[in-house]
Amino acid sequence: MAIDFKLDILAPVADDFAEMDRLINEGISSKVALVMSVSKHVVEAGGKRMRPIMCLLAAHACGVPDMVQAQKLAAIIEMLHTATLVHDDVVDESGLRRGKPTANATWNNQTAVLVGDFLISRAFDLLVDLNSMVLLKDFSTGTCEIAEGEVLQLQAQHQPDTNEATYLSIIHGKTSRLFELATEGAAILAGKDEYREPLRRFAGHFGNAFQIIDDILDYTSDAETLGKNIGDDLMEGKPTLPLISALQNTQGEQHAIIRRSIATGGVSELQDVIAIVQSSGALEYCQQRAHEETGHAIAALHHLPESPYRQALINLAQMALHRIQ
Ligand code: IPE
Ligand code: IPE
Ligand code: MG
Ligand code: MG
Repeated sequence: MAIDFKLDILAPVADDFAEMDRLINEGISSKVALVMSVSKHVVEAGGKRMRPIMCLLAAHACGVPDMVQAQKLAAIIEMLHTATLVHDDVVDESGLRRGKPTANATWNNQTAVLVGDFLISRAFDLLVDLNSMVLLKDFSTGTCEIAEGEVLQLQAQHQPDTNEATYLSIIHGKTSRLFELATEGAAILAGKDEYREPLRRFAGHFGNAFQIIDDILDYTSDAETLGKNIGDDLMEGKPTLPLISALQNTQGEQHAIIRRSIATGGVSELQDVIAIVQSSGALEYCQQRAHEETGHAIAALHHLPESPYRQALINLAQMALHRIQ
């Protein structure tokens, strides 16, 4: 039976979710009007709120009796995520996010960078209130690694020889690491050290699958459905898994087109590249890798006691494999 987002994932944490949303809105308030308008522009556009939901579910799965701190942590996670998106859209020169013009396109790069900085700083400001040095250290180290992931990706740009191992370290840093902070952070708050590792492994593999799917969608979806422009990865000459795999599966002219597109960037050959990605078996390979990662993610959860919350985390991982936005 198909998984229903509201029923099978959100329902067990619906009250916590509402409070988390309120905390985000409170968190982005600023005495400087422009800071607030830019933050609101991105936050109010929505987004799937996957990371805070995961944090809330993980906290319950660890048996946290009082969710007040976990709700705050979930809000902090989403604020960090929002900041990385605002920065990422500057770096990627992207024009559309969550179905709306990006902050950089609406205002400018300078404003987007500075407001992104504000959101990270405010997130850490709120984190200090949670009074856990362990949590603070984990988040400080983790956010350094997220930045490193994005820089690693920058170095791989226009490099057609990038292999799958390098791709995996890029996506682990830029994407999976924040998911890890969301779930491991919940275990730290809960004081359940024994669940830190299983929850980190769950989120790490989940994040890998999530980003692989995202990289497929950049070649197969459309702006209307996705809320972001497709072809952005090719535009920037990013050697994502669909292209790495297409390179492995092709020879001759097709191989040359993919190599050239990564090396030069730009979307003049987007239609050819999409056709090659589709005909070469690259998409099937990416799907298979995403399934494998999801399998590892779910397996890690078996170290946690059975509960509706653990089941909702499993549902979330399964649903993310079939996401279209
Ligand atoms: C976008 O994350 C960045 C990636 C890691 C692919 P999401 O797809 O979770 O973005 P929102 O929050 O729903 O907009
Ligand atoms: C998203 O990277 C990862 C972040 C940490 C922001 P991408 O550049 O692949 O994601 P989209 O496609 O812009 O959402
Ligand atoms: Mg991007
Ligand atoms: Mg992308």
